[in-house]
Amino acid sequence: MRTYLITGGAGFIGSNFILYMLNKYNDIKIINVDALTYAGNLENLKEIEKNSNYGFVKADICDNEKIEEIFKNNDIDYVINFAAESHVDRSIKNPEIFAKTNILGTVVLLDIAKKYWQDGEGFIEGKKYLQVSTDEVYGSLGDDGFFHEYTPLDPHSPYSASKASADMIVKSYIDTYKFPANITRCSNNYGPYQFPEKLIPLVINNCLEGRDLPVYGDGKNIRDWLYVEDHAKAIDMVINKGRLGQIYNIGGHNEKQNIEIVNIIIDTLNQILDENDVRKKYISDKLIKYVKDRKGHDRRYAIDPSKIKDEIGWYPETCFEEGIKRTIKWYLENEEWLKNITNGEYLNYYSEMYE
Ligand code: NAD
Ligand code: DAU
Repeated sequence: MRTYLITGGAGFIGSNFILYMLNKYNDIKIINVDALTYAGNLENLKEIEKNSNYGFVKADICDNEKIEEIFKNNDIDYVINFAAESHVDRSIKNPEIFAKTNILGTVVLLDIAKKYWQDGEGFIEGKKYLQVSTDEVYGSLGDDGFFHEYTPLDPHSPYSASKASADMIVKSYIDTYKFPANITRCSNNYGPYQFPEKLIPLVINNCLEGRDLPVYGDGKNIRDWLYVEDHAKAIDMVINKGRLGQIYNIGGHNEKQNIEIVNIIIDTLNQILDENDVRKKYISDKLIKYVKDRKGHDRRYAIDPSKIKDEIGWYPETCFEEGIKRTIKWYLENEEWLKNITNGEYLNYYSEMYE
């Protein structure tokens, strides 16, 4: 039975990945290591918490001793590093924690995996480390063109700079030690369990509460949206079929301006909500409020996913129309989940960020 060490598995993409994997395979073991920051929520994993192939360890990936203990007690085959501080706006206010978790945490994982996976001169066959990175490491595009795996790194925010640094460290282990690893760089994800600090869940939540919908700058920045389950599938495929040492871009071929996203959410909510739902009275474009732009705001992201398609056979399966409907329905069916995480600390964050 292959054993996966998943870091950050209580976050948005990590929890979707664990659910995807345990629904798909019954002959794998998953150990989820998560520090449970504001973004980590074990409620996401309720469905599988009693699965005998699943275990949870509360630990910081920067904690050498705890991570080493996991390797000592388990024969880890794969490490998939989702754990990170992931929100650009927070990184602009408080970069230090981004450097710690995203860079130092990656070094700790690499070092311990390197120690336990070595077999004489080389590495034990079949072991693999996967660094979950982002298209933001490439910087920003103009009106044309795409990010390719060979596009030079040009990060602008403290978040993307920390992710680019981590990528460079992983690359240095590949080049120096022939460490068995892949790096994946994905575009913007959306779907169930995303924390409502990110554009799509924030807009859904604000619509439901009749709050303003804050649109940064002119609203014409472009992101390339990917349904989170498609990302989970891509990672599974890269673990199984990715050539060691390679980088794979993962993208949705689905570019949209932010203002388009906001309008699609307003329209879709109005289609889905029951005719008599009182919230329909206030969910309209009148809620849209243009606010001060994000500092250093990247203009456009767009991924060329042809390498992962040609080499591994992955392509984005969920069209945006379908994915956004599923996502909005999920938030409507899980308003309790949303309420639980938008209490307390979230309110402080919100009033500070959008004051
Ligand atoms: P998230 O913020 O929802 O989740 C991050 C998880 O990591 C949380 O569970 C948190 O508790 C945990 N964590 C944070 N610091 C930790 C630490 N020091 N030790 C252990 N656990 C820690 O993030 P996400 O959106 O799920 O992103 C997951 C990964 O994917 C990140 O590496 C991110 O850079 C990358 N990524 C995200 C997107 C996106 O659109 N969300 C796109 C491309 C890449
Ligand atoms: O591209 C991949 C990246 O996507 C990931 O690496 C990051 O972890 C993830 O957070 C995401 O980063 P973005 O900055 O693109 O996502 P966010 O949802 O924060 O913002 C999307 C766009 O919407 C961006 O152009 C900023 C804008 N925005 C965001 C918020 C929160 C608004 O206009 N208003 C808002 O309130």
